[in-house]
Amino acid sequence: MPARKDAEHLPGFLFRAVSFERGRLRILDQTQLPHRVTYLYPTKAADVVAVIKRLAVRGAPAIGVAAAYGMAVEAGRLPDRNLRSGLERAARMLVAARPTAVNLKWAVVRVMQSVSVRAMSPEEKRRAVLAEAQRIETEEVERSLAIARHGAKLLPKNAEVLTICNTGALAAPGMGTALGVIFQAHIDGKRPHVYACETRPLLQGSRLTTLELQRARIPVTLIADSAAASVIDRCDVMLVGADRIAANGDTANKVGTRMLATLARAARKPFYVVAPSSTFDSATRTGQQIVVEQRDGEEVRAFAGCRAAPARTVVFNPAFDVTPARLIAGFITDRGILKPPFRKNVSSNP
Ligand code: MRU
Repeated sequence: MPARKDAEHLPGFLFRAVSFERGRLRILDQTQLPHRVTYLYPTKAADVVAVIKRLAVRGAPAIGVAAAYGMAVEAGRLPDRNLRSGLERAARMLVAARPTAVNLKWAVVRVMQSVSVRAMSPEEKRRAVLAEAQRIETEEVERSLAIARHGAKLLPKNAEVLTICNTGALAAPGMGTALGVIFQAHIDGKRPHVYACETRPLLQGSRLTTLELQRARIPVTLIADSAAASVIDRCDVMLVGADRIAANGDTANKVGTRMLATLARAARKPFYVVAPSSTFDSATRTGQQIVVEQRDGEEVRAFAGCRAAPARTVVFNPAFDVTPARLIAGFITDRGILKPPFRKNVSSNP
């Protein structure tokens, strides 16, 4: 996919979560937001694994791009004789960092394929790894712009939108996914208003989504996750992101998404999943095959060092849940809008 001009003119309010400039990988530390804008400069794949695991970089497309650049920094430090085996080890570590978002595996596999030609010299391999990572980033930016254009057409004027987690430029290079649609509708003068679920336990909604929308001057009302049913009658549409979309349309996304989809169905409101082609996984037949990442219970027992439950409380802390395809009105993708029947339309997409 050739780099296009509009990617060079992204609105100034957008963050750049991951970048690679002058040989240095830079990652915006999202654990510090909204208080501080600080950057991390990982110099090896193991550092990138660590920042992905602790959600300093997060969101399915963004971690794919971070992992691809993680392979590039690793290639830059490995000696010639260990280049192949070192890259294979780095690839395994990166893919295992977060198991649900398919973009991570997809990006790492692409990078490994770029060096699968035996006749390449070590220097050619290092250049190929970096070039592939840059291509992946450019493509994801273009996909986000295409998603935003397709999705914004769906929104009525003065749309009231309910969303969860964070799906802006912090989560996907370029404009983001679900928030990208809202940014575009705002740019088009449609004056959307957003209800943002706070998204316990790690508060991506209240820490990140409100921040991104406020920077764009889009009105946003933060709600506790449990207040979703109290605002649903005022909403026109729900827009959410995705971490993996199975061939039948079942969709893994931030835990709480299935609850919203069930609510949307009960209230007869359209529930759209917004995602690039890199999040569609035709190798996973249904949602039952999706591995849901389980995280440390301490994330629920406490927040930012403040205890929210007795220290030894038993916790169930899945990072994601799987929304059955039957609750989804459609997928807003870079290739257009996919409607049911998903078994036919989703599996033929990427
Ligand atoms: O745990 P996170 O913050 O990485 O979860 C992110 C989400 O669930 C997003 O909705 C998804 O990755 C899509 S991001 C464009």
